[in-house]
Amino acid sequence: MPEPLRLGLAGLGTVGIGVVKILQNHAALVAARAGRPVEIVAISARDPRRNRGADVSAYAWEDDPVRLAMRGDIDVFVEVMGGSEGAAKAATEAALAAGKDVVTANKALLALHGQALAEAAEAAGRTIRFEAAVAGGIPVMKALTEGMAGNALRRVLGVMNGTCNYILTRMETAGLPYATVFEEARSLGYLEADPRLDVGGIDASHKLALLAAVAFGTRVHFEQVAIEGIERVSIEDIRLAADMGYRVKLLGVAQMTGRGLEQRMSPCLVPADSPLGQLPGGTNMVVIEGDSVGQIVLRGPGAGEGPTASAVMADVVDLARGFRVPVFGVPARALSEAPPAVQPAPAPYYLRMTLVDKPGALAKVAAALGDAGVSIDRMRQYGHAAPEAPVLIVTHKTTRDALDHALAAFATTGVVVGAPVALRIEAV
Ligand code: HSE
Repeated sequence: MPEPLRLGLAGLGTVGIGVVKILQNHAALVAARAGRPVEIVAISARDPRRNRGADVSAYAWEDDPVRLAMRGDIDVFVEVMGGSEGAAKAATEAALAAGKDVVTANKALLALHGQALAEAAEAAGRTIRFEAAVAGGIPVMKALTEGMAGNALRRVLGVMNGTCNYILTRMETAGLPYATVFEEARSLGYLEADPRLDVGGIDASHKLALLAAVAFGTRVHFEQVAIEGIERVSIEDIRLAADMGYRVKLLGVAQMTGRGLEQRMSPCLVPADSPLGQLPGGTNMVVIEGDSVGQIVLRGPGAGEGPTASAVMADVVDLARGFRVPVFGVPARALSEAPPAVQPAPAPYYLRMTLVDKPGALAKVAAALGDAGVSIDRMRQYGHAAPEAPVLIVTHKTTRDALDHALAAFATTGVVVGAPVALRIEAV
């Protein structure tokens, strides 16, 4: 009988309980695939008495996750506590120092401390696996590090926060404003304890920074992600974008350009009939573009007990098989330092504005765009009763700089009421 792989499990929330259930329900299947049994030896969680819907009485208990991480009778430390500092960080560092491999679902920890942790892992001859940290149950890390290992990656983009996608989808289908759907999402328990992590785009940006590092072989730079959340997306823009054939998505995009590494998270328009445009509710989607394979589209559940535990187990089974890849796909010291791109790549933009309804108003706006070198692709003026006219413009591909010049010039025309809305249209 081969030696079992022994796990120390830190965290018995949604993900931790999912891992317990998989190992209790599929022990034989996991052992067959791993080539050896996989066992939980000890666990650690905040409250030992809480009823969690799974029997954990057979496992040894540690109050302190750092002690759990250092136990001599575990091989792999499974960290599903969360949090970028404190216990999760201390226990992960302790596990590596004690010669354990680490499997984690903790995107914030790796987004903020990934380089130091990767170096610590390699110094100890160990690795950190984090499939569950990015896009929940979607095996995107495996796709990048294994399936696309022969490709130069060009762009990785996608919808990486199910809560935001739920909110935006529900706004469109029910015709409800952001504030109403936000409260709905809160009452359904979809929001993180700190909702800004979701709606502020931070959680998705943690994931994007990890994807970028693996895709481009660069050091993780979460602080270089240009982040804009969904709080200011209006039902009006969702409706009018739909009228022009687009849907609004919180899109994360990482691409290596001649001007450096571009990482941005922002509400963007995508064609309504594209795979991203068709993505419903709480689902995630990651699109990867490689020079040989072309475009790969991965879609699936981005959160929840089963999907996230499924991803944790994929990493655990790899370790049980003796399969180890460096934390970010290449050795930590070989990760390069790409300069951040100052400007996003040129793109078409959607502009919504209100014009004073008098002769020559539209001409002034068109002139401001033309003077800034921004060309109009499509335009629509909607029927109106008031002395103000709602106008939509879709531009041809332009730089953000040129667009900002045009927007600044709008303010001096005397015909644009209030601040126009500008949303990038991402080609997919
Ligand atoms: N809150 C996240 C989401 C899941 O809604 O996708 C954890 O990253």
